[in-house]
Amino acid sequence: MAKAKTYYFCQECGYQSSGWLGRCPECGKFGTFAEEVVKAESGKWNKESAKLGVSTPKRIQEVSYSETKRIATGCGEFDRVLGGGIVPGSLLLLGGEPGIGKSTLLLQTALAIKDKRLLYVSGEESEQQIKMRADRLVGKGLMAVGSEQSAESDEGGSPLPATHYPLPTDLYVVSETVTQRIFEHIDTVKPDLLIVDSIQTITTDDVDSPAGSVSQIRQCTTEFQHYAKTTGVPVLLIGHITKDGTLAGPKVMEHIVDAVLQFEGDRHYGFRILRALKNRFGSTAEIGLFEMLGSGLHEVPNPSELLLSQRDETLSGAAVAATLEGVRPMFIEVQSLVSSAVYGTPQRNANGFDMRRLNMLLAILEKRCGFKLGAKDVFLNIAGGIKVNDPAIDLAVACAVLSSNVDMPVSPRYCFAAELGLNGEVRPVSRVEQRIAEADRLGFERIFISKYNARSIDKKRYKIEIVAVGVIEEAFRALFA
Ligand code: TYD
Ligand code: MG
Repeated sequence: MAKAKTYYFCQECGYQSSGWLGRCPECGKFGTFAEEVVKAESGKWNKESAKLGVSTPKRIQEVSYSETKRIATGCGEFDRVLGGGIVPGSLLLLGGEPGIGKSTLLLQTALAIKDKRLLYVSGEESEQQIKMRADRLVGKGLMAVGSEQSAESDEGGSPLPATHYPLPTDLYVVSETVTQRIFEHIDTVKPDLLIVDSIQTITTDDVDSPAGSVSQIRQCTTEFQHYAKTTGVPVLLIGHITKDGTLAGPKVMEHIVDAVLQFEGDRHYGFRILRALKNRFGSTAEIGLFEMLGSGLHEVPNPSELLLSQRDETLSGAAVAATLEGVRPMFIEVQSLVSSAVYGTPQRNANGFDMRRLNMLLAILEKRCGFKLGAKDVFLNIAGGIKVNDPAIDLAVACAVLSSNVDMPVSPRYCFAAELGLNGEVRPVSRVEQRIAEADRLGFERIFISKYNARSIDKKRYKIEIVAVGVIEEAFRALFA
């Protein structure tokens, strides 16, 4: 056995030091160092990869590669985010809050991949629990989404018996938490793809600290990396992330893995977004959309149609934003409720929107549109529990607030795509043509954009009426005058 050494690790960012430090020089946090015992690297795959690691510098013209064949997951949304499937020899991290659906997504993927031998290692659930979940997913016809069989089983009300859709014969499951034993199982199964749920529950004998500690996570991830690189078998790791952002573990892993996928959404709503935060084999602009139903995760190919609630034309306080998530148009309804403040300090509450940005928008509205900031409670809600990062939502937020304030509805057939500047100027946004084309396709009558965006647009190409505005007052007058 290799000699053990003691190191100190920052539990926030994973910085390693030979002595205890009061403040981490990497992330600047105080009192985050903890002692962890690490044995010198002795893992099986480390030694094998060391042998392979011998390489000499080559001229770039002489470097050859063959276009690697990706493993298609059979799930369009997942493949889209990956950039067209799983690259052999890659190490992927799927992060997300507990309960968001990470295990469901990967088990579903494992059930759908064809003609591959898979090993699903779980440190969280027993084999029986995994089987029960698989039966549920397969039994309710999920694997046959889009096929006639699934339509029948849905309409019939009672799900078909699990045996109707046989579970794949080449999917092996094992409940295991120690990497050395996982690699023994790998030797017997010889999988084409490995899934590990979750990295926080896995330990290696080479490190003495508890599961989930920075040195354990780093060491285990490195072992899986060596395994993936030496054998060419892709490894999918699940990692938990807490509500307030990323936990130490996944942060440490981000540098090691080839791609970081984040699964997000509000647990109380059905919608889930899969994003690539890092991807060595594809773009990070693509997102995947899912809906969590009783029968597992279902793909959502047309998000805009789903997210727009069928709304009464006479209701005030709602406006539709033409946003883009990555390169994907998403039309989302913004709802606002403005009422007179009962207490001294007015209440502000935003769901799916940044509070500071809401306060800023309200200050702009006070200055430019006579909105009485200090005397009103303002509540804001983005439909579907979705968090929107696109600044193009600003104009819809402002119009929803104004609509509720004056109690006059905005037509559900209007949509908005512009950012607001501090002086009330309506600012241009990226890819405006794509937004207009999507609004046109969805049958909207009017889209409000910045006049700086409107200059380059050939209005005759679209059926939809394009309203170009320069300052927020113009939008206000156009809607409520
Ligand atoms: P899970 O995949 O266990 O989450 P994670 O691995 O990210 O912790 O799934 C979490 C939730 O999803 C669970 O509370 C129940 C729900 N769920 C469904 O709504 N439908 C389903 O078909 C399945 C399998 C789970
Ligand atoms: Mg899980």
